[in-house]
Amino acid sequence: STGLPDVRERTLVAIKPDGVQRRLVGQIIQRFEQRGFKLVGLKMLQASQDVLSEHYCNLRTKPFYNSLVRYMTSGPLVVMVWEGHNVVQTSRTMVGHTNPAQAQAGTVRGDFSIHVSRNVIHASDSVEGAQKEIQLWFQAKDLLDWNCWDQISTG
Ligand code: TYD
Repeated sequence: STGLPDVRERTLVAIKPDGVQRRLVGQIIQRFEQRGFKLVGLKMLQASQDVLSEHYCNLRTKPFYNSLVRYMTSGPLVVMVWEGHNVVQTSRTMVGHTNPAQAQAGTVRGDFSIHVSRNVIHASDSVEGAQKEIQLWFQAKDLLDWNCWDQISTG
């Protein structure tokens, strides 16, 4: 380690269909920008069952798995990649507890949801998980390299 903060860490955040339907996209993006993270990828799409079964492969045996997939395919998702120091862990804190009933006020789930089956947002739970999820949802060419962009935009 160089002792310097890893400012290039990345995580995958997805606004779930209930969040899109309830017009929460702007407020959620604002929280991540305001905190200081950089947006490096963003798209709105209807998820396929195949991608979701990869994304939630550790939950395939759970009793709620089928209803989770039905919910996640019920409308468009807004899928994003955010970058910055400690972004994986800080995003999890910003998102709050999986069960909104236990989520702190000030977190996305604590402020915008009341039930685990409609908890508005996803964020990767580890650096390794984030790398897998980013590869699953995005092509490398669709992610912004801010170092190159800053050089172009400032001359
Ligand atoms: P999980 O990966 O455990 O939580 P998180 O999204 O906080 O990383 O679960 C994935 C999603 O599955 C969760 O966001 C909502 C749904 N879910 C249920 O519907 N019921 C449940 O009892 C649990 C644990 C999760």
